Amino acid sequence: MTIKEIFDSMEYGPAPESASEALAWIASHGGRFGCFIDGAFTEPGETFATSNPATGEALAEVTQATQGDVDRAVAAARAAQPGWTGLGGHGRARVLYAIARLLQRQSRLFAVLETLDNGKPIRESRDIDIPLAQRHFYHHAGYAELMETELPGRAPLGVCGQVIPWNFPLLMLAWKVAPALAMGNTVVLKPAEYTSLTALLLADLCRQAGVPKGVVNIVTGDGAVGEMVVAAPVEKVAFTGSTAVGRRIREATAGTGKALTLELGGKSPYIVFEDADLDSAVEGLVDAIWFNQGQVCCAGSRLLVQEGVADTFHRKLRARMATLRIGDPLDKVIDIGAIVDPVQLATITRLVEASTEGERYVAPCPIPAKGSFYPPTLITGLSPASPLMQEEIFGPVLVGTTFRTPAEAVELANNTRYGLAATVWSENVNLALDIAPKLAAGVVWINGTNMFDAAAPFGGVRESGFGREGGWEGLAAYTRPAATPGAALNPVEPFTGEGQPLDALDRTHKLYIGGKQARPDGGYSRAVWGPSGALLGHASLANRKDLRNAVEAANAARSWGRTTGHARAQILYFLAENLSARAEEFARRIDGLTGQGGAEEVEASLRTLFRWAAWADKVDGRAAGAPFRGVALAMREPVGTIGVLCDDRAPLLGLVAAMAPAIAMGNRTVLVASEPYPLAATDFYQVLETSDVPGGVVNILTGSHKELAPVLASHLDIDAVWSFSSQPLARVIEAGSAGNLKRTWVETRARDWTRPDDRAFIDAATEVKTVWIPYGE
Ligand code: NAI
Repeated sequence: MTIKEIFDSMEYGPAPESASEALAWIASHGGRFGCFIDGAFTEPGETFATSNPATGEALAEVTQATQGDVDRAVAAARAAQPGWTGLGGHGRARVLYAIARLLQRQSRLFAVLETLDNGKPIRESRDIDIPLAQRHFYHHAGYAELMETELPGRAPLGVCGQVIPWNFPLLMLAWKVAPALAMGNTVVLKPAEYTSLTALLLADLCRQAGVPKGVVNIVTGDGAVGEMVVAAPVEKVAFTGSTAVGRRIREATAGTGKALTLELGGKSPYIVFEDADLDSAVEGLVDAIWFNQGQVCCAGSRLLVQEGVADTFHRKLRARMATLRIGDPLDKVIDIGAIVDPVQLATITRLVEASTEGERYVAPCPIPAKGSFYPPTLITGLSPASPLMQEEIFGPVLVGTTFRTPAEAVELANNTRYGLAATVWSENVNLALDIAPKLAAGVVWINGTNMFDAAAPFGGVRESGFGREGGWEGLAAYTRPAATPGAALNPVEPFTGEGQPLDALDRTHKLYIGGKQARPDGGYSRAVWGPSGALLGHASLANRKDLRNAVEAANAARSWGRTTGHARAQILYFLAENLSARAEEFARRIDGLTGQGGAEEVEASLRTLFRWAAWADKVDGRAAGAPFRGVALAMREPVGTIGVLCDDRAPLLGLVAAMAPAIAMGNRTVLVASEPYPLAATDFYQVLETSDVPGGVVNILTGSHKELAPVLASHLDIDAVWSFSSQPLARVIEAGSAGNLKRTWVETRARDWTRPDDRAFIDAATEVKTVWIPYGE
């Protein structure tokens, strides 16, 4: 094209970025890469090709790691870990800072290599992926520096196994490696098989930055290598990728004691209200669904437009789509690059072709003859149940429908098994901030979209996984309490005996469901004996049906989560007051059940109620500043319905210590009382009844922990399961939770309930929702 022709047509001319430096780096490794273990590259073993999806040409050969490689990487990380922690926060901060600086200096090389390997437009890798990865290392250098003073009592977990996807290869590495290293852990990371190169370049950079040998290890290969990393003797597994694989990892790690965070898929709603700035909302959509070809876990892939503006909005959107440029990702004027691999291209095509519903618009941009490309596509007028509205397409395909009222928008937005992100466009701040808390999502963007920062927590709810990355909140996933854990919990067996009840009356204690005492569905009960063999009464044996009823009652009491912290505090104080009035009676009951310590246990229960009354109106979240216009509000929301298997050892305190934090934070509970000593819990019904606790907020069952644990774990309407039971239930609960990926907390150590551990309970009883709002200039 001549300059005159360009002036005449005002067409973009090509502006390709040179690939020569990146290709030279590949060549400097002979075009074949081993793994990076203990500070050095291994000899390449059996290899596979990694290709440029824009051309189909092979870029390099990458090693399929063996079990031996993974074992050596874990051993190197293990050996390096004490020294890395021993460097201290400041020593680690220096190393993380060196990584950030070097990344900044070599950003062009990283950007080009990322684009070659992944197919994303160079504009994005240059302006988003690589700068954000740098920002992560800088920001976490700061957390390393501050760890000793700001996170007292926290210690590193040890060795972390990390498995990442191909959509943001270096950025996902930074999200995983920076916090792990900052907190004193060492890592074994497996990049995705399509996109290993920038991880290997980072390995080179680690050597230049003075990262001690063994602190960062990179093993390459496919899902089989991922499985080896997950199965390796590591203290933590961190995974980002598909929900299907996340579920398998949940099952594989069940009962192993490994910490786990999962950042999985999404089908995030993009809600446009009629009072939105429509042109901005259209531009936002370009970032929401055509950023990285739509291969973004939090992509705004489900468009919901208010009916009155739908035609105008769709028209504007189609006009904008027609201007999108698709082609060589190394060209700086390209908006849409290549799909990561022909396999992924086939998946997108299959999903879209399987449906004939709705109205389709395919952007008329010319598509390169070779390479993996898919045109920007809009499909409107879909029913909410359509597979296209429910399944993650993970490509440049936007699907949508319309709504009439804000309430309908919320209903449609939440009509998904996922809960990663949501976007709201409205010029009415009242409306936008009314909608944000109602959305089932870990991140909400208001009048903006796909904003990320190292200071702002990111992560999902529901089947989008659990755990947060980024911010102070993300550090919890890479640390544990420094205090030596208590002794292992050993099963507590009930006392046995024979003889007559103490009084002649029928002393079968019922269950407590929806604020009422209820007979057990099966009609069974068991005798409860005291330590000297006296018969104290009968406790009902709850079954699956009773549990289902309790969950239904709990879910009907949802409005508890919307009461103020002040109101919840008052109810907790009132519970304490009413328990106090009956302190002697409860002390005698506990003595009768366990033979000891009744008065102390009642006193500790009262203190616990006061403590959580204190907290009820003091968990306020925080505001995170980001280095661009906007502020991220890290709000704390209740998790939902929490099922708890209470501590067997302490009949009253075990129940109160789990119930109080849960309800203080706005959750509903289904509590399964101490199995050997259930009768203090059944006496507690009356305290609940006299303390204005709304029916359904606290439900109490008695019965077998072993029988009820799998039912709790697999129940789809329970959001979290905690177990302080003395029975070994970790495997059954964690594996059972894989269905709806509920949060689990299974304590295997004997807790000292008189020592407060408030942070752990606040974290378990709340979910962080990050709400991005425009703020400042
Ligand atoms: P994937 O979940 O299979 O791959 C992600 C990572 O997990 C890769 O490093 C892979 O090697 C590894 N992996 C695979 N199987 C494993 C196993 N059993 N144990 C441990 N690690 C394992 O994702 P895939 O197949 O590449 O993409 C399929 C779909 O997943 C996409 O179409 C998209 O819907 C979704 N996806 C979601 C991502 C997100 O960020 N939420 C990222 C990538 C994919």
